[in-house]
Amino acid sequence: MLIMEKKNIDWANLGFGYVKTDKRFVSNYKNGAWDEGALISDPNVVISECAGVLQYAQTCFEGMKAYTTEDGHIVIFRPDLNGQRMEDSCRRLEMPVFPKERFVEAVCETVAANEAYVPPYGSGATLYVRPYMFGSDAVIGVSPSSEYQFRVFTTPVGPYFKGGVKPLTIRISDYDRAAPHGTGHIKAGLNYAMSLYPIMEAHRQGFDENLYLDAATRTKVEETGGANFLFVTKDNKVVTPKSGSILPSITRRSLVSVAQDYLGLEVEEREVYLDELKDFAECGLCGTAAVISPVGKINDHGKEICFPSGMDKMGPVTQKLYDTLTGIQMGRIEAPEGWIRIIK
Ligand code: PLP
Ligand code: COI
Repeated sequence: MLIMEKKNIDWANLGFGYVKTDKRFVSNYKNGAWDEGALISDPNVVISECAGVLQYAQTCFEGMKAYTTEDGHIVIFRPDLNGQRMEDSCRRLEMPVFPKERFVEAVCETVAANEAYVPPYGSGATLYVRPYMFGSDAVIGVSPSSEYQFRVFTTPVGPYFKGGVKPLTIRISDYDRAAPHGTGHIKAGLNYAMSLYPIMEAHRQGFDENLYLDAATRTKVEETGGANFLFVTKDNKVVTPKSGSILPSITRRSLVSVAQDYLGLEVEEREVYLDELKDFAECGLCGTAAVISPVGKINDHGKEICFPSGMDKMGPVTQKLYDTLTGIQMGRIEAPEGWIRIIK
């Protein structure tokens, strides 16, 4: 294998931020069809001042990671599921679908072109991959654009939460993230725009994230601004909220399989009531960016729910889930068929 020289980056101290890499993929949609797309060097986007994305937030995105495995390959994790979810997001937002097979190809090409930025094995960092699409031509009446861009860029990242894997303190939010028949189940930019005020308010009050409740009854746990929940009961069952208004996390779906098939644990995907939180032994946030970030404490309007796993380290079941998932992603543990796409 040809050894590519890596960029001179302090991998171990990267946060979750944007670092410009060399190449990005762009494909344009015009007159009812996608062009063949290309890798380009210019990181800037030039669009109409009246573009659908700028006026009416017609945009969706995906998030995934490329890893260097123990034996030196560069791989990505279940990109077909991101491609499928992006198709689902596009349909709900009246955007043209970028076919999932082409999505996976574009992601692989972009990662390969930025190989020098894929953090080395064991560095604690990964290459975050951000596919996204937006309406690019002028719309002034409320209607879908007729032209779109699909893009993929990459950026090397460290942990999403400051402090790495130290347990988080989150609060129950008084704001809702998603309406019952709204867009919570897709990865629309608008879901994140509306979370900016609550997240900043949470930070101002000293919390790491928000726990959103279901908007209709405000009695059930949904998710946070950027991750799904996993709970562990005192008798070692894994419980994860089921709801039509949360994002179907690929990490969470993978962890459900890991819990059942690798760890032999029982898993319940069901409605989880706010009232039950005090009875769980462990709590974690799962997602591409979050991986599994343990939660030590949930603040419900001043009343603290403290998990027995404490504020120093992950609970034992969360740790096993974390070790097995990251082991699969980094090539230390054999992956289920089709989970790992080798780029080189
Ligand atoms: N929930 C929300 C709101 C997210 O933004 C994300 C991130 O993608 C997730 C959950 C986790 O999803 P995944 O595991 O597919 O990254
Ligand atoms: C991801 O995990 O990929 C996301 O998109 C979450 C986002 C909050 C960074």
